[in-house]
Formats: sequence, C-alpha cells, structure tokens
Amino acid sequence: MSTENLFCDLAFEPINGLFPYQPGKPIDELQRELGLKNIVKLASNENPLGPSEVVKKAIQGSIEDVSLYPDGNGFYLKKALSEKLGVTTDMITLGNGSNDVLDVIARVFLTTGRECIYSEYAFVVYAIATQSVGATARVAKAYLPEEVGAYGHDLNEMERLVTEKTSVVFIANPNNPTGTWIESEGLERFIKKLPKHIIVVLDEAYCEYLDQQSLVDTTKWLQKYPNLIITRTFSKAYGIAGLRVGYAVSHPDIADLLNRVRHPFNVNSLGLVAAEAALQDEEYIEKSRELNKQGLQQLANGFEKLSLGYIPSVGNFISLNVGEKAADIYTKLLHEGVIVRPISAYKMPQYLRVSVGLPAENEILLSALAKVIQHV
Ligand SMILES: Cc1ncc(COP(=O)(O)O)c(C=O)c1O
Repeated sequence: MSTENLFCDLAFEPINGLFPYQPGKPIDELQRELGLKNIVKLASNENPLGPSEVVKKAIQGSIEDVSLYPDGNGFYLKKALSEKLGVTTDMITLGNGSNDVLDVIARVFLTTGRECIYSEYAFVVYAIATQSVGATARVAKAYLPEEVGAYGHDLNEMERLVTEKTSVVFIANPNNPTGTWIESEGLERFIKKLPKHIIVVLDEAYCEYLDQQSLVDTTKWLQKYPNLIITRTFSKAYGIAGLRVGYAVSHPDIADLLNRVRHPFNVNSLGLVAAEAALQDEEYIEKSRELNKQGLQQLANGFEKLSLGYIPSVGNFISLNVGEKAADIYTKLLHEGVIVRPISAYKMPQYLRVSVGLPAENEILLSALAKVIQHV
C-alpha cells in the first residue's frame, strides 16, 4: 500500500514500510455496513461495564470548560496519581492514552542507528513507534506454542539480543494479544541484569486485572532501577478508553525528557477530570476485576466445549485458535452481529482475539461461534 503512495519518496524512508494501526471495527461502522441493530463488540479490550457513575458526574461537571485549553501540566491528575502510587508528581508523564507515552519514549530514546528489543507477538505499537523514528527492532523469539508460557516473552532470548546499540527494551506485562504474564521475580532479575544505559519500558496496561494479593508493586522498583519506565492506562479497567488518558512513571529526569517532547495539552480537559475521578472509584475497579475473572472462565469453558484451543490469559481478553479459516470465521461472526479482532498482523493468522464482555455478551459470542464454526 505505502509503495503506491505518491509521496513515498518524500517521506522519512522507514515510514514507507509502516501500515496504519488496525483498530477493532467500530459498532457504528458495522451497523452502517450490514444494517444490523444488535451488535456486541468484543474487539478492543474495553471495559464492558461502561464508565462508572463517578466518572460520568465528573465529566458532566466539566462540560462548560471545553472552550478552554486543559491544564497542560495535569496538576490535579498527577497529584491524585502520586498519592495513589506513592511517587512524586515529577515522576509522572501524562499521555493521550499510553500509546502516546510509548511514542514519546521512542522519540526521546530511539533514532536511526539505535536498537530496541521486544518480543514476538508483543503489542504492535512498539514496532510502529520504533520504525517511525528509524530505529532498528530486534524481535526476540517467543516461547514455542507447545511450551509452558506459550507465545509469552522469553526473557533469556530478549537478553541475548542486547548489543552496544540497544537503547530501549519494551516489555508488555500482561502482553496483548497473548494475555501472557511474566512473574515478578524473573522479571526483576532480567531488569537487574540489563546495562543501566538501556531504558526498560514496562507496559502494564492490564495490571488492574491481575490478582492484587500476589501482585508486586513495580513502582517500588523505580528506586532501584532508574532506567525503568512503567506505563499504564485509564483505557482498560478504569473504563475511559474514549477519553484517551495514560501515563508513565519513571525517574524524574526521564520524566523531564519525556515532558520536553510531549505535545502541549496532550490530555484533554474531560480526560483529566474523568481519570482523576476514576482513580477514586475503587469499587468500580473491584467490580471490573471480578467480572473479568468470571468472564475469562466463562469464555474458557465455552471454548473448551467447542474444542477450540486458546492461550490462557490474565488480561481482559483471550486469543482463540480457530484454525486456518480465521478470517472467514471473523466475517461470519460480523454477520451474526459480533465483532472480535483478527490478529494476523501479529503473525497469528489462526487466532481471533476476544475481549471479555458482560456475561450475556460472552454468551452471544459463544453461541455465534458455535453456529459459525459448523459452516466453515
Ligand atoms: C499492551 C498495551 N499497551 C498499551 C495500550 C495502549 O492503550 P491506550 O493508548 O488506550 O492507553 C494497549 C491498548 O490496547 C495495550 O494493549
């Protein structure tokens, strides 16, 4: 596609090898295309509960402010985050979603001639961010499908790829789209061993879904590893994906660099107040976590009944092996009013990624799947 572009020769060369990020199909679009009324979207790992009441109220109370620029420093949100996380406000960088933060990190630490490392099947934005600044990606082989931790990050393999040119290592924990998880001890050992001039980006977009009792608070690692950046988001468990708020927590000097490159006013005023309110609503997070746990089980049971393989997940989604006809099954599911996510862009063409929905939505997906797989 990009080679047919009239302006290819004018673009920064690595851009020509990129493809636009493919989002989950919006409900409106499917409604327009197929004229369907009842549509279930399980394609973008959003919170099926919708925004919390606390968030709705905060947004309503701020509608009048939208004619003004937002607080470009995000004072109140940073204050709330610093209190919640036990870090200082100068360690926080806000982003227009955590995608924005990942992009800013690439712009600060990567360029032509530098290398970054990430795992095969890791979140696709690492590849886009790396290539768009002309850096070289070294992609570590993931665990083999038949191994324990199948498709997950193999940290030994990632360590093996370190060279004197390595500037950044991206780790998604949990990873999307595989739902795999690296236990904290092994992860910390890996970070400890890396040379201190390598920036380690620990992307924890789905951390709120993990079992909180056994969870290690990785923000405490920042004291020991000043080269660590933790990124998180309000798009998943906090339920405000549409408002685009994410953040990084890091050493203040790293935050200082990120803030130099960050676009002015990159987080909008409704996003700022919504995120601040969302942080206070513990009950909603707990409810979301519990709903997700049950939903994962419901989907796993359903897939097993249909004799379909899947990758056990700790996120709010599961990747499901439907075989060679995955593209066909995806289209047939659309005709049944169910939107899931094909992940051939991740070189997993036999898989469809399914986000956990409400129990009734999960049931609709499972019934549609049962119907569709009979006819392919
Ligand atoms: C692993 C991972 N990191 C980061 C993001 C970015 O999310 P957002 O930009 O909405 O914060 C996503 C979104 O799907 C993700 O799966």
